[in-house]
Amino acid sequence: MGISDLDFDFVRTFIRAQAGIVLGANKAYLAEARLSPLAREEGFADLPELVDALRAGSLVPLNRKVVDALTTHETSFFRDREPFEALRTRIIPELIASRQDERRLNFWYAASSTGQEPYSVVMLLAEHFPELASWNVSHLGTDISAMALDRARRGRFGQVDVNRGLPDTYLVKYFVGNSLDWVLKDHIRKAVRFEELNLLEDWPALPTMDVIMMRNVMLYFDADGKRTTLAKVGRVLHPEGYLFLGPAETTMDLEGQFERVKDNRAGCYRSKARYQQAS
Ligand SMILES: C[S@@+](CC[C@H](N)C(=O)[O-])C[C@H]1O[C@@H](n2cnc3c(N)ncnc32)[C@H](O)[C@@H]1O
Repeated sequence: MGISDLDFDFVRTFIRAQAGIVLGANKAYLAEARLSPLAREEGFADLPELVDALRAGSLVPLNRKVVDALTTHETSFFRDREPFEALRTRIIPELIASRQDERRLNFWYAASSTGQEPYSVVMLLAEHFPELASWNVSHLGTDISAMALDRARRGRFGQVDVNRGLPDTYLVKYFVGNSLDWVLKDHIRKAVRFEELNLLEDWPALPTMDVIMMRNVMLYFDADGKRTTLAKVGRVLHPEGYLFLGPAETTMDLEGQFERVKDNRAGCYRSKARYQQAS
């Protein structure tokens, strides 16, 4: 059975309240396609019955599964290539030079989905910056989706996943073939700590971050959600740190404190305060 206008309105309000995600008025088909299989899996007679259970509001596990189903987890290894090139050629060498005293670097992947983004950076560091092995380097991956985080923690990827963006040399060097899947070697998998964090809620205490990748998540938020999220990022990012957004995202007109790094196609931003200090 399809989704009625009334139920779709409820689902839109629900996902906006839970995850800050704006589901367009023309996305009823998407809600139906993603929630109908969930209704079957959860033993409801049909989709309206699942929406009624959501309305009743007492089933926290169901709420989480609906958020999982309605969020887009699309990701891939070395997605968009340029951000990783910018890290390899400019940013990491610069951070290594400027942090010789502390020998500490903190990376945060603020919508890490199933883990390909953080693991890409960990492999890149292992491959090109072996000197960091003796530094204190932390990688934190967070996401609203418990299901995506579970998959990320397992570090197990299918053939389709490893065919998308992962160089063959990395596959051979950092993964072990396991029947149909590829499993990350422990020293890569264990380098990332994954935790649940809803960007639209209060954040726990976080260390100052040198690099924040918050890619392809804010495009689902309304202007208010983007503004408050960027303001919080500004408080967590090191004044000399780097923020990466997705290609369809921009800080323009949203928050006065960041500006795009010039001449780059990597979606990379820095704090404006830093430039004011420098000039
Ligand atoms: C399209 S994926 C992006 C993955 C990765 N950053 C990339 O660019 O390849 C978007 C992720 O954002 C997560 N997400 C959606 N709303 C969120 C929120 N309010 N707080 C934290 N994560 C959220 C989803 O669960 C999903 O895993």
